[in-house]
Amino acid sequence: MELLRVENLVKYFPLEKSFLERLLTRSRRYVRAVDGVSFSIERGEVFTLAGETGCGKTTTGRLILRLIDPTSGRIVFDGEDITDLRGEELRRIRRKMQPVFQDPYASLNPRMKVGEAVKHPLEIHGIAYGSEAKQIAMEFLEKVGLTPAEKFYSLYPRDLSGGQRQRVAIARAIVTKPMFIVADEAVSMIDVSLKASILELLMQLKREMGLTYLFITHELAVAKYISTRIAVMYLGKIVELGPAHRVFESPLHPYTKALMAAVPVPNPRRRKEKVKLKGEVPTAPVDIPPGCRFHPRCPYATEECRREEPQLAEAEPEHLVACHKAMEL
Ligand SMILES: Nc1ncnc2c1ncn2[C@@H]1O[C@H](COP(=O)(O)OP(=O)(O)OP(=O)(O)O)[C@@H](O)[C@H]1O
Ligand SMILES: [Mg+2]
Repeated sequence: MELLRVENLVKYFPLEKSFLERLLTRSRRYVRAVDGVSFSIERGEVFTLAGETGCGKTTTGRLILRLIDPTSGRIVFDGEDITDLRGEELRRIRRKMQPVFQDPYASLNPRMKVGEAVKHPLEIHGIAYGSEAKQIAMEFLEKVGLTPAEKFYSLYPRDLSGGQRQRVAIARAIVTKPMFIVADEAVSMIDVSLKASILELLMQLKREMGLTYLFITHELAVAKYISTRIAVMYLGKIVELGPAHRVFESPLHPYTKALMAAVPVPNPRRRKEKVKLKGEVPTAPVDIPPGCRFHPRCPYATEECRREEPQLAEAEPEHLVACHKAMEL
């Protein structure tokens, strides 16, 4: 059963122009952060968006959370078109979808006790107040492994380690009993030795609370560990989407192959096909190349690739790729 669907989602950010540019040209230029993205997430999935920095992962997450408005496209959540919701209606939806961001220190108020931070959403959404809200907040501190909850309740973010702070951010995200979590690089800043335990916590909460995740990460090793499906983005578009094990074991897009070649393998005897890319990722998707936007970096690019943009299409059941050459490689 589908929980979320995005259709042709687009977000262009207008580029700041210099004084001279404003004098000389009337046209606006845009950063095409998300440039026509479509996918759906089934209930209970861990759907991962992966790709290098600047490819549009965070922007996609923020669009889905309705923290920013799309340029065009549609977002359907829990059977309802939420693309144009505002005010009270949007608040009702927000209770059902919650973010966990990369930097818990930035997302927690330094002057608020961690217990108060967890209690706060309950009051905002009118779920519980006062001592009842405190009781629930304590339960959730326990749930995320911050025990004894009594002690942690009155500490400040500065008193905690990075891992503990992320546990507070997670408690705050789940205290309203949402159905959907957007975890944007949620373990990227966590010390390597603690990463697995935070991932384990996220998976345990998923089982206990019946959650669905949109997991955003540039760390493929993390994605491999938890994802049901994975979508790889390049310059604002999905270039490959499929069951995680298929995308990891038999990537089809040259870009995915190159990314996978950089992930350490437990068994070094299982050799991976090496794909070497040309050039660098463009710093911002402003001047998108014609045809396939990956062609300037692709070792297999042909005339067709320079001319015609490949569409995301099924190459094997449930496994989609946007590449003219995928089946020949
Ligand atoms: N508010 C904004 N105004 C202008 N440009 C923006 C804005 N937010 C994002 N961008 C640009 O949009 C593109 C996509 O950014 P986004 O943050 O979605 O990438 P990302 O895949 O999450 O990267 P990272 O792995 O570094 O987090 C980038 O070029 C970024 O500079
Ligand atoms: Mg990001």
